Amino acid sequence: MTTGSASSHGLASQPSGPSDLPRHIGIIMDGNGRWATGHGMPRAIGHERGVEALRRTVKAAQKLGLEFLTVYSFSTENWRRPVSEVSALFALLKTFVKQDLERLKREGVRISVFGTREGLPEDILALLDKAVSETAHNSAFNLGIAFNYGGREEIARAARRLALDVADGKLQADDIDEATIGRALDTHAFPDPDVIIRTGEEHRLSNFLIWQAAYSELIFLNVLWPDFGELDLIRAIQTFASRERRFGGLKSGAA
Ligand code: FPP
Repeated sequence: MTTGSASSHGLASQPSGPSDLPRHIGIIMDGNGRWATGHGMPRAIGHERGVEALRRTVKAAQKLGLEFLTVYSFSTENWRRPVSEVSALFALLKTFVKQDLERLKREGVRISVFGTREGLPEDILALLDKAVSETAHNSAFNLGIAFNYGGREEIARAARRLALDVADGKLQADDIDEATIGRALDTHAFPDPDVIIRTGEEHRLSNFLIWQAAYSELIFLNVLWPDFGELDLIRAIQTFASRERRFGGLKSGAA
């Protein structure tokens, strides 16, 4: 496990500017299973430790002054895992909401959930709805939980919604542009992620925020998710601050 504060690791002494601190970080929390296997434990324990890492990360993100954090908790592809593992992940979500919701409410955290309701059991849907509705008035920090989420599914669902609006005469097909699509996505209230961090040594997006990540800085870490901590987050933010974002334009001073 890693520890450390922003000031003790030099983040506070970095030049501050609008582009230094990302507003929105997305995290693909990968490596729970390998962490558990490596420690001679069942995979479910790796996911439990993953929830602890999530708690640490939310706390660190609040402390460092981020505004938005989105975590990939359960993908539409994760249904391919054994039923026992899917149940263990659902049980962890339940425990997380039951144990952490009151504290998150007190801390002013607003929870948003991204993904499809299709296939999710009623008790999980009820808990997710509760977390969203009971934090809807908060604004100190935004936590997005991508649960039963897949980027292509989200885009397809948005396309269906827009097609219905066109069929109903509420929208002209010619008026559909990038902004219209962005507003139809689950993440419409979040800015695009400045950074996507993936732990666990794989170098891909795995269907996470694929529309929104068009210009995100991608940071792949060799740390397994249960070992992720504040220092790793600080280092990722420092890496982000050292990169030049051009959004398709030219390097500054090149024109
Ligand atoms: C990937 O590790 C991780 C997941 C599929 C689930 C992530 C879930 C959590 C951290 C906890 C649940 C979240 C909430 C909000 C309660 P992996 O199992 O694919 O690891 P591996 O690649 O080493 O097998």
